[in-house]
Amino acid sequence: MSTNLRVLTVIGTRPEAIKMAPVIAELARQDGITSRVLASGQHRQMLDQVLAIFHITPDYDLDVMRPDQAPADVLARIAVGMQPILREFAPDWVLVQGDTTTVLAAALAAAYAGCRVGHVEAGLRTYDRRNPFPEELNRVLVDHASDLHFAPTESARQALLREGINEATVHVTGNTVIDALRVIAAQSRPAHEPQVRDGRRLILVTAHRRENHGRPIREIVEALRQLALRNDVHIVYPVHPNPHIWEPVHQGLGGSENVTLLEPLDYLDFVHWMKEAYLILTDSGGIQEEAPSLGVPVLVLRETTERPEAVAAGVARLVGTRADAIVAEATQLLNDPASHAAMAQRANPFGDGRAAQRIVAILAGRQPPPWSPTETTDYA
Ligand code: UD1
Ligand code: UDP
Repeated sequence: MSTNLRVLTVIGTRPEAIKMAPVIAELARQDGITSRVLASGQHRQMLDQVLAIFHITPDYDLDVMRPDQAPADVLARIAVGMQPILREFAPDWVLVQGDTTTVLAAALAAAYAGCRVGHVEAGLRTYDRRNPFPEELNRVLVDHASDLHFAPTESARQALLREGINEATVHVTGNTVIDALRVIAAQSRPAHEPQVRDGRRLILVTAHRRENHGRPIREIVEALRQLALRNDVHIVYPVHPNPHIWEPVHQGLGGSENVTLLEPLDYLDFVHWMKEAYLILTDSGGIQEEAPSLGVPVLVLRETTERPEAVAAGVARLVGTRADAIVAEATQLLNDPASHAAMAQRANPFGDGRAAQRIVAILAGRQPPPWSPTETTDYA
């Protein structure tokens, strides 16, 4: 390979770090690539948890997180903070992942500085600008500011082509989250085993989306309160530290029998808990991608999803955020083992664990490994 391709990988939040960790590791393995990592610090504690698990030490850290921050402030701090780094390191490529404010800020700062941008997880769409908010807006803008598009699935590629993105810049790679999941699932036992009472079934819950702040999170809490009255479930909920989530969840569920509220779990623990779960309730994007590989049914606490592959695989179901709908869907899966078994199927629509190899090969101008989307892997 010709020498000295300079690549700056930007991460800001928990999911970006998880999904970029395999890319950062793959870049480090290449001769002829100078790889540096920039952490925006949009998340602090949750980002640091991931950096520790994957042994990543950022070369730069903008440390922008503030309590109850607004996206516009985060955007401004990152875009301004990146300028001297872009001047000093002068990367050939800036790699961004997903649809957070860090991604939008970094892509804009890089494009303004004349650097080429590679977007990992390009082409996800709901076509509803308010849902998820502001992620749908961010990812559309970032795709149109990018020079290379790493689409996780064929349907993401099709979405990009429909928007007039140059076909030659779009590559279907699989989602790097499956690479990360494979690395972590192969590791030894985590620090914390799930503590589930008296053989009860584990319901694992996460929620954080901005459009779910206010009434929707209160409805989710009410649904969990009703489900916790059953004598055969234990609800475990690592609570996102955003005060718009943390406060209503602790107010509504703190001290409830059969409910354990936790700090965010590190990825090693969380993957283990997902494997042990009977059912996952979540509004997370990444968990919708991981659950099919683990064969754990997911009820998606959202009105829309940009990951229709999980629903098509039969492992995920969109249930929205009304308490009665959540309780009804969860109750069906708890009361009817056949319904549960029909959803608890392993599938790998999001990747085969080689997405990072493909991304780095494409960046370096090499032929990527062939894509085998039907391959399934047993992570149990
Ligand atoms: C952000 C992303 C969202 C992504 C999510 C992953 C945007 C607009 N939102 O949402 O797309 O799905 O991360 O989790 O980019 N906080 C802490 N410690 C942390 C992290 C957050 O205390 O480690 C608190 C802070 O008060 C912070 C607040 O949470 O101000 C909100 O963080 P922010 O990154 O703006 O939004 P998220 O809801 O985490
Ligand atoms: N996750 C974690 N600990 C937790 C909850 C989630 O490590 O307590 C992982 C999860 O497995 C997934 C990622 O965090 O890989 C998803 O992050 P999040 O839900 O914050 O963001 P999203 O994917 O919705 O952008």
